[in-house]
Amino acid sequence: MLLRIPSVLTAAQVAQCRAALNQAEWADGRATAGHQSSQVKHNLQVPDGHPIARELGDMILAALERTPLFLTAALPLKVVPPLFNRYEGGGTYGTHIDGAIWQIAGTPHRVRTDLSATLFLTAPDDYDGGELTVEDTLGVHRVKLPAGDLFLYPGTSLHHVTPVTRGARISAFFWIQSMVRDDAQRTLLFDLDMAIQQVRIGLPEHPSAVQLTNVYHNLLRQWADT
Ligand code: NI
Repeated sequence: MLLRIPSVLTAAQVAQCRAALNQAEWADGRATAGHQSSQVKHNLQVPDGHPIARELGDMILAALERTPLFLTAALPLKVVPPLFNRYEGGGTYGTHIDGAIWQIAGTPHRVRTDLSATLFLTAPDDYDGGELTVEDTLGVHRVKLPAGDLFLYPGTSLHHVTPVTRGARISAFFWIQSMVRDDAQRTLLFDLDMAIQQVRIGLPEHPSAVQLTNVYHNLLRQWADT
């Protein structure tokens, strides 16, 4: 499932991120790339574990906890502390796959990257290029969202970022280990949850709402690991 989640951050929170990131020291993004990825990665990142990244990351994680669409779509078990990247002056990231396991810096904790997430921190009009391009069985999807919006896609997808030819594109990115590792099962639960919410609004007194909720939780009980 590919999903846009609007307004994860408010305009004020986006401005706070941008101001703090202006003070950060940016380093070569290849520091966190694997062997294949590092050959096609040309961007900058705030070093993993940098105090600014940690502070802003905590704000983003708290915002995610308050975003029902994220919680129902991702069914998160573990979320990697967000990292921050910057593309400018032709910066690009060629076609690659994200590593299956992310080791959280300075800890023994590992996260399986079931879902990848990009949180846009720059308005689309402020740069040219920089489209996140995700390939799946339906074709190629080009994504360039308003600042504050999140894009969620399966960690199993090949993807790339097209060159930024004007301005700078700044984003947060991170991975999620879901309670439901399989994308098809997760999508089915998401569709069922959305349908239940429609029934609750359209037919608030009808017993089907509680019956469908029963099915949802019994499927989740079968498929979830915690
Ligand atoms: Ni990637």
